[in-house]
Amino acid sequence: MTRSIVLTNHKGGVGKSTSATNIALGLVHVLRHIKANNSRVLLIDTDSQGHASLVTTGRNDFGTDNSLYTVLMADRKEASRVLAECIVPSEWDADLHVLPASPMLEGAERELTGTAGAPYRIADPLSKIAPHYAAIVIDTRPSFSLMTEMGLLAATDAIVPVEPRYLETVGLLSVINKINDIREGWRHPNLRVSGILVTKMDSRIKGHNQLLNELKSHSVLGQLLCGVIPQNEAVSYSHHNHLSVFNYDPKAPASNAYAELVSNLVRQMARRKAV
Ligand SMILES: Nc1ncnc2c1ncn2[C@@H]1O[C@H](COP(=O)(O)OP(=O)(O)O)[C@@H](O)[C@H]1O
Ligand SMILES: [Mg+2]
Repeated sequence: MTRSIVLTNHKGGVGKSTSATNIALGLVHVLRHIKANNSRVLLIDTDSQGHASLVTTGRNDFGTDNSLYTVLMADRKEASRVLAECIVPSEWDADLHVLPASPMLEGAERELTGTAGAPYRIADPLSKIAPHYAAIVIDTRPSFSLMTEMGLLAATDAIVPVEPRYLETVGLLSVINKINDIREGWRHPNLRVSGILVTKMDSRIKGHNQLLNELKSHSVLGQLLCGVIPQNEAVSYSHHNHLSVFNYDPKAPASNAYAELVSNLVRQMARRKAV
């Protein structure tokens, strides 16, 4: 089964899109490096703001006919074909493909609320396309909306990016509980919390270190910590240039941290495949 990693947190600005896009490209690089049979990765952007789509494709004009919105509105029998048709190549790598978001996704939530099977409108059509990819990465919007539920139901692994600030970390347990709810309440046993990713970490700030230490020593959350991404201006510059942080500056601290995270994810993927 193709692993599908969703980046989720109901807070905005915590590094979901930055992480989704760089993890997606990082996976292509590592899979190619280890000469995997298939190094194609699909990035799905479920956020109507479309930041992940914009930086990876250079475009933000996706709409009625060529975006995730089109897939959600498609007749159920047609949805897989429509999904395949809406996938576009990224500008970052020939093996990184994108199912882009559209501002119309905002309306899609309203249009679909109450429709039977609505939360599965990504998972169902994706199940036919997923075998073509080595991995799938899903970016979500900063809320627990229907769109985010759709993203979680299409995923096998959830990564929760969080900034090392008090009010950010207090909400963490509720995010983890929400993911567990989807697994148990919605009978989606393949979904698990793969990790908490601390982003924008500035080790010169006492409060950041304090929160990281608290997180590490927490009985539940400490076990889930999967990486720490430093606060690094290379990330902002990479966005302005529509580049991955790896391409903007492969030696930047954030590039090293994302590369390490991705290597761990690939090892984890291999272990789960072997089980
Ligand atoms: N490691 C980092 N260092 C510096 N700035 C970062 C880092 N990660 C993200 N950012 C910046 O923080 C802002 C929010 O990041 P983003 O990935 O869009 O968050 P989200 O998708 O959760 O809303 C962006 O302006 C981005 O450039
Ligand atoms: Mg985002």
